[in-house]
Amino acid sequence: MSVLSSLRSTLSPDIGIDLGTANTVIYDREAGIIASEPSVVAFQHSDRSVVAVGNAAKVLDGRAPGRIDVVRPLKGGTISDFVGAHTLITTMIDRALATRPRIAPRIIACVPGCATDIECKAIEEAVRAAGPRTTIFVPQAVAAAIGAGLDVTSTRGRMVIDIGGGTTEIAVLALSGIVAMHSIKIGGDTFDAAVGAKLRNDERFSVGVLTAERLKIERGYAGRPPGREPYSVSGIDMNLMRPGRRAIDERLVGEAMHDAIDAIVRAAWSILEATPPDLAADLMETGITLTGGGALIPGLAGEISVRTNVPTTVADEPLLAVARGAGEILASPSLLEHMRPHADRLTRWYQSLRIGMTESFSR
Ligand SMILES: Nc1ncnc2c1ncn2[C@@H]1O[C@H](COP(=O)(O)OP(=O)(O)OP(=O)(O)O)[C@@H](O)[C@H]1O
Ligand SMILES: [Mg+2]
Repeated sequence: MSVLSSLRSTLSPDIGIDLGTANTVIYDREAGIIASEPSVVAFQHSDRSVVAVGNAAKVLDGRAPGRIDVVRPLKGGTISDFVGAHTLITTMIDRALATRPRIAPRIIACVPGCATDIECKAIEEAVRAAGPRTTIFVPQAVAAAIGAGLDVTSTRGRMVIDIGGGTTEIAVLALSGIVAMHSIKIGGDTFDAAVGAKLRNDERFSVGVLTAERLKIERGYAGRPPGREPYSVSGIDMNLMRPGRRAIDERLVGEAMHDAIDAIVRAAWSILEATPPDLAADLMETGITLTGGGALIPGLAGEISVRTNVPTTVADEPLLAVARGAGEILASPSLLEHMRPHADRLTRWYQSLRIGMTESFSR
């Protein structure tokens, strides 16, 4: 790296942001992950003033009903609470850059869909307020693949499945472009809801969302049960209508997750069908890479391998892949150049999600 470019990257950091349904992650190519917190904002019920953002907000969930509203502004892959999303972005960028020079950082962001054009514009502006020099939005699957270390510039096809909190995005990439892509509104939240519902139905036991998520993380699996001890959780015994504890067998959790896992596998099949035969054949060697929090579900990679006949592996640090990939695109002039010819395609894809892809290169 030349002295000039190293000075530039010190003074003007390259920042990748993954504005996820469950977690917001910010990556600086020099410093690595500089912020990672749940995408949660807590507001005072009376006047909508902000009480907490990120970790501090997530722990308030369900603890002060009526007085404090705890919102996840991004739900099911779209921006459901626009003020909350705006607060989340600006607070997280401020936190990430608090101790760093912030002369015109270059920012690349992966954001979910939004309901109206006005909301899209405002989210863009919230990101741009912090990074006016370059702000570019890329599809999460592209960033996930690059963050997982896949060579998306090669002629050989690469396939990524990013299983987040709200959505699962599946893409086949080659020559820096998207060959086939599909997004379904199934992710970690779907698993949590299914685990909670099965506990209520089968065990007559009601748990909060955070407990259902914990149970999924501790005892969830795909395919064969790994054979772990039951996991004890607190909740409400619905027969006695009083608080209690219950030891939950991992098979109950696995069965609850079955249908959502099936939907992810079927979505992967549909992408494989839409991939030209030569590229699909490449995938037999290059395989499928899993990213996002859902990649950590024990047995999932094996299950996808068996059912698609394509070898499947889990990326290193799958929760961080999208933010890392976003930052890497920005920091690599060749990758950025490579992506330009595909800008139209990306724009069309974003338009289908009602997000305008914007570029303001001022190099
Ligand atoms: N070890 C684990 N096992 C199973 N699920 C996990 C594990 N760790 C995290 N998760 C789940 O992963 C999800 C969060 O993943 P991630 O941070 O990739 O989502 P996101 O990027 O915020 O969402 P999206 O991409 O849909 O916008 C949560 O549902 C969380 O419960
Ligand atoms: Mg994500």
